Amino acid sequence: MTQTTAMPVIPLSPDQLIHVRDANSSNEWWRSSVIYQVYPRSFRDSNGDGNGDLPGITAELGQLAELDIDAIWLSPFYPSPQRDGGYDVSDYCAVDPLFGSLDDFDALVTKARGLGIRIIIDLVPNHCSSEHALFKAALEAPAGSAERNMFIFRDGSGPNGEFPPNNWQSHFGGSAWTRITEPDGSAGQWYLHLFDSSQPDFNWDNPAVRAEFERVLHFWLQRGVGGFRVDVAHALVKAPGLPDWGGRADGCSSEGFPGWEAPMFGQPEIHDIYRSWRGILAQYDGEPILCAEASIDPLERLTNWVRPDQMHQTFNFAYLSTAWNAWALRGVIDSSLRTFDTVGAPTTWVLSNHDVLRHATRFGLTAETSRPGDGIGPEDAQPDLELGRRRAGAASMLMLALPGGVYLYQGEELGLPDHTRMPSEYRQDPSFARTGGARLGRDGCRAPLPWRADGAALGFNDSGAAWLPQPEEFAGLSRDLQRADDNSMLSLYRRALDLRRAHHLGAGSMDWYLPFQDSACVAFINNGVLVLLNMGEADIDLPPFAVLLSSDPDAPFLRKLAPAQCAWLDLGTVAGDDMA
Ligand code: GLC
Ligand code: CA
Repeated sequence: MTQTTAMPVIPLSPDQLIHVRDANSSNEWWRSSVIYQVYPRSFRDSNGDGNGDLPGITAELGQLAELDIDAIWLSPFYPSPQRDGGYDVSDYCAVDPLFGSLDDFDALVTKARGLGIRIIIDLVPNHCSSEHALFKAALEAPAGSAERNMFIFRDGSGPNGEFPPNNWQSHFGGSAWTRITEPDGSAGQWYLHLFDSSQPDFNWDNPAVRAEFERVLHFWLQRGVGGFRVDVAHALVKAPGLPDWGGRADGCSSEGFPGWEAPMFGQPEIHDIYRSWRGILAQYDGEPILCAEASIDPLERLTNWVRPDQMHQTFNFAYLSTAWNAWALRGVIDSSLRTFDTVGAPTTWVLSNHDVLRHATRFGLTAETSRPGDGIGPEDAQPDLELGRRRAGAASMLMLALPGGVYLYQGEELGLPDHTRMPSEYRQDPSFARTGGARLGRDGCRAPLPWRADGAALGFNDSGAAWLPQPEEFAGLSRDLQRADDNSMLSLYRRALDLRRAHHLGAGSMDWYLPFQDSACVAFINNGVLVLLNMGEADIDLPPFAVLLSSDPDAPFLRKLAPAQCAWLDLGTVAGDDMA
């Protein structure tokens, strides 16, 4: 996969460059992969019940193959009461009838394989649903039993055990403990749930829990999955004695409470689990991978999840949360590449997923319209959609030019914004109810995809039913319109993904291009491609190389880079006279 870089037609002198890394010569697919996240309930609904499903994904795989992706990561499709969008699993080795059957899953894997696409699934090992048979058994068994020991049950504090065992807070608001009623009707023990009360945490100190998840890994690996995205991969092991913690519920650093002291996150013993899983994956063909969802800061600590004997990749949320600012963006790209290179792991890049505002919405917010906390509702000041879409396209083009792995979230290739006027009665995210509506939650980024401008529910299905409403703005952004338009966001993504592969950018090199280093333009060179993103307010004169790609195909191209525009230039070709 090494790239023979064309010699620049106009030689660059070493004092114009800061070298960050060489191109990577490994053939391991996950070092340079493009992985597309499908949120099954909102992707495509094959039977018109208003919920996307596995046959709906299988039917549209051809459209994803057009994007030239390497793999799909499927958010959970397991049996679940859907109290947290399926991250409350009641059976790890089955498919919820809402989404189809195991046969449908096998059909999806088979068809995807034929198209060269791996299917990565979401593993949720920190907690299950309170409807899981193991938790129901724990409720029926006495305190101190083997059944209870699968979870984290404790007696309460206070004279009658009426207070929670410690002060930990749920990620979704309120206490992280819920008191149960014992089988004899008396007020009983408390169980820990770092998320909703319907999501009891497993006790990972118990070898029986470890054995259960090893069984789950083998079950899906035998069905040919391409790996696992591991949910809250930093939370499984808790500090002995469960000491109080006054910092943020998500364990990220806050004043006086550095994240590395959080007793429920990032405990050293967690890494033994991933070492053993890596060994299991290595028994299977096809290079299946593990990717950590770990909210760990700083990046130096996060690299502990992707040492050579543990996970292959981890999400880079420092990148996702970087503001629209050239200095900040250069900083996070530089530190990400250098830090992950110290352990020989690829950096990944991501701008959107099912837990955050889509970047087309986020980049349309200003200091005045930005709302603290998550979600935007009808009462809030609304984002600038035009600005957001323009910046999102440019930011995505920059991301697709970076060396490392990329994660895309369904619909970002259409430039979709969030539903920012969703009426409260539709809201399903548990954080909405658990905070009395103070946090609106994540439903806005989960609206069903628009496939056809003239279809029911914009082609999400044939019936018009939809589990969440679609925003008005989706109407002009449907996939059929964008496929037919060379200047659409979809066409831009397709061109960028083609060029990324043709120039081996995913396995590429990285040099900062110094002539722009003190400006609001981020500029770097990867395998002979000079990438420029103008994050400032004024036009910038482009260096005299031919344009491979521009995020703004409508703009008259006068050797200028307009604000919120990204261009890729070919250092091997001088700009034609027509461009002068
Ligand atoms: C992860 C998921 C999120 C879920 C939480 C609890 O952060 O991405 O959607 O609510 O874990 O499982
Ligand atoms: Ca359906």
